[in-house]
Amino acid sequence: MTSTRAKIFSAALGLITVAIVVLYVVLPSQRGALPLAASLAVGVAFATARMAASFIARAAADLTEAARGMAEELATTLTELTVERDRLRGVMAGMEEGVLLLDERGHIALINTALREMLLLGNDAVGRTQLEAIRHADLKELIDAARDGAEPVTGDLELGGLKPRRLLVRAAQLPGNEAQVFAVFVDVTEVRKLESMRRDFVANVSHELRTPVTAIRSAAETLQTAPPDDDAVQQMFIGIVARNAERLHDLVEDLLDLSRIESQKLRLALEPLDTRAVFEQVASLFRERAARKHVELVPEAPAGPRVLADRRALEHVLTNLVDNAVKYCGEHTRVVLRCEEQGGELRLSVEDEGPGIEERHLPRLFERFYRVDAGRLRELGGTGLGLSIVKHLTEAMGGTVAVASKPGSGTTFVVTLKKAEPRTARVVA
Ligand SMILES: Nc1ncnc2c1ncn2[C@@H]1O[C@H](COP(=O)(O)OP(=O)(O)O)[C@@H](O)[C@H]1O
Ligand SMILES: [Mg+2]
Repeated sequence: MTSTRAKIFSAALGLITVAIVVLYVVLPSQRGALPLAASLAVGVAFATARMAASFIARAAADLTEAARGMAEELATTLTELTVERDRLRGVMAGMEEGVLLLDERGHIALINTALREMLLLGNDAVGRTQLEAIRHADLKELIDAARDGAEPVTGDLELGGLKPRRLLVRAAQLPGNEAQVFAVFVDVTEVRKLESMRRDFVANVSHELRTPVTAIRSAAETLQTAPPDDDAVQQMFIGIVARNAERLHDLVEDLLDLSRIESQKLRLALEPLDTRAVFEQVASLFRERAARKHVELVPEAPAGPRVLADRRALEHVLTNLVDNAVKYCGEHTRVVLRCEEQGGELRLSVEDEGPGIEERHLPRLFERFYRVDAGRLRELGGTGLGLSIVKHLTEAMGGTVAVASKPGSGTTFVVTLKKAEPRTARVVA
């Protein structure tokens, strides 16, 4: 195509040259032939000019067409790139994991919202070096290791400050551009906390089980070797076995309760309950034990307001609280069960006149196995799980539990639950 045009163009140039030669060189020497030759030359010149003009017009049209094609292609590519970029931005913004990309010079090329929130960074992190923006020596070490090695590097980062966090980081060279480093951050604060709680729990359970098991074993061994006719010794060791077997039983029962509550297998049926009747029922379980310590058990509930609760769960909660009150209070004291209305709620409290609890213990009192004086109180036969069961059950019924105490002036536990509206009945898992 191009070569055809080139030939036409050179032919046109040739004709123009011929016309000029005829007009200015040949004709002036051929007098008489001038008019004919002149019109010939003009004709040739016109034809040539028209050919050249049409060629230029066609070339211009081709050029315009090509430019339009290119513009369209460019526009399509640009739209595709914009869609791609927006999609990537959307993914980055929607991710819970933090994402960081460092360029060849170690400057931040990309950082997503999740990571900025995890590290409490402002909008100006892009363009700064990692150390300038994040200031974490362990992170720098991890990123340097990822940049220097072909394998991805993984590690935990501990963040202090206002919002202490634990992050799991995985950093690697960016595939296709190995001088850049790409890192993903996952907030594992809660996971690590749960892992450590589980480890503590297993250690605590083993420890709690070991004490009665050891006591039973050594008592049994002593019984085996004790003289068969020594009744007093036999009775003493049988007593040890019985007490510790009881402790094991309590511990296993409490652990089963906790695991049922925590695995949500316990189905609670919330129904309007008469607090007076529940108080009476719970108090009746402790009358004998209280009387032995000369402790007066006083259920005080006004007739009328009913609490929205699961009967067995509420009885379990109050039983644990009254058990503690009777167990820890001194002789000749009172334990009062009270019910008070407060807005749409009822406050059920168990008050004792016992030794009270120091303030520093209060925040941890509802933790599993927490005891104020572990050594002494274990002798009283507690499992250390009672209050954590109280908390779990109360919360499962949509309520809260609190404690108020001062050494020397007794302890009050308050369970706050919803007041039942007339004819209310609700079932929750
Ligand atoms: N009414 C109370 N007076 C004094 N201390 C209490 C009272 N209730 C609970 N405590 C303290 O809280 C700890 C945890 O109670 P709990 O979970 O019921 O375990 P325990 O099996 O030891 O009774 C007890 O060991 C005791 O130190
Ligand atoms: Mg208890």
